[in-house]
Amino acid sequence: MTIPIPAEDPRHLPNRAVIDPSAITQNTRTLTGLLEEHTALMAVVKADGYGHGMLSAARAAVEGGATWLGVAHPASALALSRAGFEVPILTWLYEPETAEAMMHEVIAAGIDVSVGSRAMLELVSRAARTADRRARVHLKIDTGMGRGGVMPHDLRALAAAAQEDDVIQIVAAWTHLTSADDPADPATDQQVEIFDSSVEALEDEVGPVPLQHLANSAALLTRPDLHRDIVRPGIALYGCPPVTTDVQLRPAMTLTSRLAMVKEVPAGQSVGYGRTYRTETPTRLGLVPIGYADGLHRSASGGVDVVVRTASGDRRARQVGRISMDQIVLDLGPDSSARAGDRVFLFGDAKGAPNDPAAPTAEDWARAAGTIPYEVLTSVSGRVSREVRA
Ligand SMILES: Cc1ncc(COP(=O)(O)O)c(C=O)c1O
Repeated sequence: MTIPIPAEDPRHLPNRAVIDPSAITQNTRTLTGLLEEHTALMAVVKADGYGHGMLSAARAAVEGGATWLGVAHPASALALSRAGFEVPILTWLYEPETAEAMMHEVIAAGIDVSVGSRAMLELVSRAARTADRRARVHLKIDTGMGRGGVMPHDLRALAAAAQEDDVIQIVAAWTHLTSADDPADPATDQQVEIFDSSVEALEDEVGPVPLQHLANSAALLTRPDLHRDIVRPGIALYGCPPVTTDVQLRPAMTLTSRLAMVKEVPAGQSVGYGRTYRTETPTRLGLVPIGYADGLHRSASGGVDVVVRTASGDRRARQVGRISMDQIVLDLGPDSSARAGDRVFLFGDAKGAPNDPAAPTAEDWARAAGTIPYEVLTSVSGRVSREVRA
């Protein structure tokens, strides 16, 4: 007997992450516009499309001109392939236990795989034989990240082993940059130097390698010299440039809730656990049923002004006191006309009120929480229903 798991009906939940695929399409189009014709754009849609929903993010990016898709997990790559995407897909993060069981399906589906060690090469080779299909391999070089990737001094031996294996086809050399979001950091140039000399050694060993790629969003925006054959933007597709730029990008996720109640309080009213906030004057407090279990960062407590859509227009209101698991409190001000049921924009695009204050951004929450917008976007929890704007 199986016991059905009761699901919460998303229509009954107050909190929504509204995804605008047209923003992803437009951002992708803007980014491809920065590339030379020979450079392809691989849309990075790992981590469920940075929290936006992998399939709709991928669809939107392909519509905007992405001709590759990139994901960390082979399971995500297979899901993309099964959904019918015909552009090449690259996957780069797997461990033997799960990969052994499914890598042959990945290869059979024609998905490109990253290899950064002899053990990975052997695993991919076995999978290719099972699939009876050559594996398209991107050799990953560790140029300073210290994560996946072969160390430059081991590259020749790995490449020679790959070259000797008739089910392995080396299609690319690639690396990942540690510090491209800080254009003044010399680490990027150091990595490029190591990458270029490694590729030279690689080509000396196995002959020409068709593709090279290393640029993430930050390098795409700031280092045209690093675009090479493919760029791999993630965060910029979703509307959060990781560097200062004049390139116009639109946020693709808008997080909303509604006021649960509004009440008048006197001066000196404490708010939330630990009483970290006290009202200075009589004011109105608004309760919003969204908290850290929905993905808000508790460390951002008291650091962001959100937008409340009241009958008399959009108004900014400071989130005050500690963020709780399920709720936050806004200081609406003594003259606020906000009422229970009014929409609250936590971040994103408060469409429909062009002259009113802009909603905060994922970057604003990141700054307040001492983190990065990547974490803000991917933290929006499963309890928040995703809605795709038509
Ligand atoms: C290997 C790889 N390439 C590209 C990206 C995209 O980076 P960004 O979102 O900074 O553009 C990521 C994400 O961290 C990544 O892991």
